[in-house]
Amino acid sequence: MTGTESEFLAACRRRQSGVPVWFMRQAGRSLPEYRAIRTGIGMLESCTRPDLVTEITLQPVRRHGVDAAIFYSDIMVPLKAIGVDLEIVSGTGPVIADPIRSRSDLDQLRALEPGDVSYVTEAVTALVGELGNTPLIGFAGAPFTLASYLIEGGPSKDYAKTKAMMVAEPALWDVLCTRLADLSAAFLRVQLEAGASAIQLFDSWAGSLSAEDYARSVQPHSARVLAQVAEYDVPRIHFGVGTGELLGLFGAAGADVVGVDWRIPLAEASRRLGPDYAVQGNLDPALLTAPWPVIADRVRAVIRSGAAAPGHIFNLGHGVPPTADPSVLGRIVDLVHGEGTALRSAAADLASAR
Ligand code: CP3
Repeated sequence: MTGTESEFLAACRRRQSGVPVWFMRQAGRSLPEYRAIRTGIGMLESCTRPDLVTEITLQPVRRHGVDAAIFYSDIMVPLKAIGVDLEIVSGTGPVIADPIRSRSDLDQLRALEPGDVSYVTEAVTALVGELGNTPLIGFAGAPFTLASYLIEGGPSKDYAKTKAMMVAEPALWDVLCTRLADLSAAFLRVQLEAGASAIQLFDSWAGSLSAEDYARSVQPHSARVLAQVAEYDVPRIHFGVGTGELLGLFGAAGADVVGVDWRIPLAEASRRLGPDYAVQGNLDPALLTAPWPVIADRVRAVIRSGAAAPGHIFNLGHGVPPTADPSVLGRIVDLVHGEGTALRSAAADLASAR
């Protein structure tokens, strides 16, 4: 198996030789070919068309030569597929027609059957064929992040209604998050059954929580998702923004790789996680607009810091902004591929000499 193992999967399993790289939101508005193909087609509609999903997923792989593809879809797709009335508004994000505030609102949430998302099965199957040895990452939203959209009704700055339900109505919260956990697990299983070779669980907004609240009210539900895909024996990546204080809990939820944003050096993230986890990250996406020599120095610094971890997949600390210049992303890929192996082994030698 090791003979054909991609650098991405090797890094997830903490046995890489080089440094693999991909970008969260690599498919999307930073690419002119994406904007062109999406003209006149809504975001959620595009996710239901296997021809478009396949093409959009492949666009950044072709253009940038990244080491992994991420399935083009959205964390809200399984909710839409079970009939929740929602839209994704460009420039805003997910907007829910009837936010969940009480027990009876939970009637909106039934179980997901594979037949509800046959377009996902079709697209993943086609992609796995097209991608050859390049791994396809499947993904889903974690219960907290999904719940935050359902309860707030849309994007939020403080998650006040979400946290109020979590703390004041723990029984309702647990039923809601259990249903969302099973929904996300079902969505991941569809992607895995069709041949995805890794998964990422996005708990983008969990960093808004204290470690105590996260541990009590959120981690068990994310662990429920990750446990339901354990049998596939593929790497499980667990990501959130602003989660420096939660990293140990993110790992312990059942991850193999923990995604780290730009607020904490990878070496420190790895120290907090211990030797059993690879890390993924963590160039600040805001720096993509800086002059190239500045970016290049930061890319090298990320690789050196990541060398302290037993596995490192290069990525941004969050998604590619729509304003990013795609040629800069391509230069980053070339730099990571060109210098990654040497930088990582030199930094590791230096550390062991200390
Ligand atoms: O390239 C990839 O990363 C794969 C596709 C992907 C999308 N969404 C496509 C998308 C993935 C992995 C997601 C996950 C997702 N969706 C998350 C977790 C990751 C994160 O960014 O933290 C979240 C929170 C969502 C919800 C969501 N969907 C938001 C906040 C937005 C942006 C709204 C905006 O216009 O600013 C979306 C829309 C979305 N999802 C776009 C894409 C390419 C932009 C849609 C467009 O073209 O208008």
